[in-house]
Amino acid sequence: MRFLIRLLGALWLTTLIVSVGFAWYEVHQERRRLEDDLQRRATLTADAVREASERLVIRGAKTGYDRVLARFGRADRAIAIYDAFGSVIDTTPEVRKGLGSISPLVGEAIQKNAPARGFASVAGRTKLVYVLPLQDNDRPVGAAAVLIDAEPLDEIEWDLWSRTGVRFGVLMLLVTGTTWLTVRWSVTRPVARIAEWTRQLKTGRPLAPPPDADASLFGSLATEVTGLARTLARVRLAAAEEARLRLAGESLWTEERLKQFVEIRFGERPIYVVSNREPLSHVREGRSIVEVQPASGLVTALEPIMLACGGVWVAHGSGSADRVVGDRVGLPTRDPTYTLRRVWLDQQEEAGYYYGFANEGLWPLCHIVHERPQFRADDWEQYRRVNQRFAETLAEEMEKVEHPVVLAQDYHFALLPQLVKQLRPDARVALFWHIPWPNFEAFGICPWQDEILLGLLGADLIGFHTQFHCNNFLETVERTIEGRIDWESFSVVRGRHVTAVRPFPISVAPAETDTDLGADRATLRKELGVRAEWLGIGVERVDYTKGLPERIRAIRRFFERWPEMRERVVFAQIASPSRTQIPRYRALQEEVREAVRALNEDLGERGWEPIVYRERHHDHAEIRRYYRAADFCMVTSLHDGMNLVAKEYVAAQDDDEGSLILSRFTGASRELRDAWLVNPYDMEDMAAAIHDALTADPDERRSRMSRLRSHVREYNIYGWAGMLAAELARIPQPSLQRG
Ligand code: F6P
Repeated sequence: MRFLIRLLGALWLTTLIVSVGFAWYEVHQERRRLEDDLQRRATLTADAVREASERLVIRGAKTGYDRVLARFGRADRAIAIYDAFGSVIDTTPEVRKGLGSISPLVGEAIQKNAPARGFASVAGRTKLVYVLPLQDNDRPVGAAAVLIDAEPLDEIEWDLWSRTGVRFGVLMLLVTGTTWLTVRWSVTRPVARIAEWTRQLKTGRPLAPPPDADASLFGSLATEVTGLARTLARVRLAAAEEARLRLAGESLWTEERLKQFVEIRFGERPIYVVSNREPLSHVREGRSIVEVQPASGLVTALEPIMLACGGVWVAHGSGSADRVVGDRVGLPTRDPTYTLRRVWLDQQEEAGYYYGFANEGLWPLCHIVHERPQFRADDWEQYRRVNQRFAETLAEEMEKVEHPVVLAQDYHFALLPQLVKQLRPDARVALFWHIPWPNFEAFGICPWQDEILLGLLGADLIGFHTQFHCNNFLETVERTIEGRIDWESFSVVRGRHVTAVRPFPISVAPAETDTDLGADRATLRKELGVRAEWLGIGVERVDYTKGLPERIRAIRRFFERWPEMRERVVFAQIASPSRTQIPRYRALQEEVREAVRALNEDLGERGWEPIVYRERHHDHAEIRRYYRAADFCMVTSLHDGMNLVAKEYVAAQDDDEGSLILSRFTGASRELRDAWLVNPYDMEDMAAAIHDALTADPDERRSRMSRLRSHVREYNIYGWAGMLAAELARIPQPSLQRG
């Protein structure tokens, strides 16, 4: 109520000031116009009276004035004629008795021999008086006064002020009414609803903000409240989960447990993650800027850790609108818990470091997929420069933190550990290599193998997904550079520096059980226009390591061998375009498109397409819907460090109904033994696996998935990070002196 009174008070005052201001100006102008008009009339009349009476006065006539007075006098216009001494000679009758008040004006006109004017009250009414001297050879001999009734001027002025008063009154009523209604509809009611919504949120129920909460007025409030509610819900969930686990006597890794663990081990020090791919890019879409989460297993894995622990994530700003948004961004945007620090690369650097050395050199070198690596000196030079740049940016970010903890990611940053140690010897540095490490002969073809190994060995800890890759790495070091391998503790000793080499099989965050899985299946199939009994799913970046053409061949073979399965099975392939500047990737894109087209053309029938191909970027939420809708998922990489799609699919199967067909050449196959394991080079094997998965005894299928799900739940991403942190914490704190 007080707000309404204050608002109305302000509006009334403003309206009053504006109305009075305008009214005053209007009255002033009108009065001037009327006065000018009276003056003009008085001047004309006075000139005429002078002409008619001047001779009479010069002659000293005593009579004859009545004709002049009768001719020019009127009800609203009186005339008086004076002699040289200012005495009245004759006058129109209505003013005869009240002329005393104009004597000073008459005296002034005669004395100065010039016209005089002014207002005076004559016989009880206000008059405009204009006195003109009568002259004989320029000498004053008398005066003629014209008195025009000026009372209407006051009346008009009064009239204007009263109209202003009425106008102001009406305006006040309207302003009061509309303000009251507007405040009630646009503020009081929405605020009450927002309050009610906030109350509901506090109970942990995820509700959308009320629809009538004007975004421009309440938008940021709604965002803040939603953020608070989300945090509250997360904390509640974590506490509930912790309590549940305590009761159950289990020791599952959760977001909360990881946070506490990292805090205990490293104090409140922020964690510094370095990766090439940023967790979120800003991309131009027409005139707007949208947020895009890249298709990257690395991002899927690291984001939950940053959400749990906070810190700084240094990455290449590669989005088309990243520079517009800036080089430091709080993430997640709605409720920031960590900072993304972007590093800008020019075209030449990106071409040499990312497309060239990392993806045309190291990527095929480490994946045994018969793709010849390309090693160019220019690319190597850019790779070195960019590693240096990232190390410097990191040092800048860590300036004020003692003993910082750095988690570098992947084959883009083989040189970074050594560079960081040179700049910050007190830092504890871990590098996780997300792709396979080949045997030493294969690695030996890299012209800069020594530099790469020395760069990596700057780290205190190097992680791979499997023990097999750790062994390959240690053997490569043993055969390539000077240093001692301690096979007991799986570490490399060079001088006083020790690098531990350990397997940490990466994983995903445990999935939340949100909606009804059965309903999800039905809705998505309807959206896809799929009427088939079974839906299969594949989710990949279009990369030659993923075995996409091999999978399509296997699906063709499956329908050829079991024709009765036609129209009963549809396979949805989500294909995210990747590294398209590299010709090999563009060629693969074409090859896959063509294989899908040919298969659909050869086997498809009216109303049934064997493969639904979706070639675009899909965000996590969209992909998750596919996972939940699918009866089976195919992961057929020819060689893969881990492959998180396999684990994501398993995590999404709340009702244990799905089946996973998994390449035995993925890191994931070492853990997910209950999947249908296949050799992706063997088309018959893969086709048979699809058939087996679909026709298996439902109990067997469910128990396989149930075991897979417990494994992924138990060995989740928080556990991965926890193990990594535990291993890093075991490393003695390096000295404080900086390089
Ligand atoms: O595993 C290697 C990796 O870096 C993963 O993080 C991710 O799946 C993929 O490569 C992403 O590739 P890019 O960042 O080049 O698109």
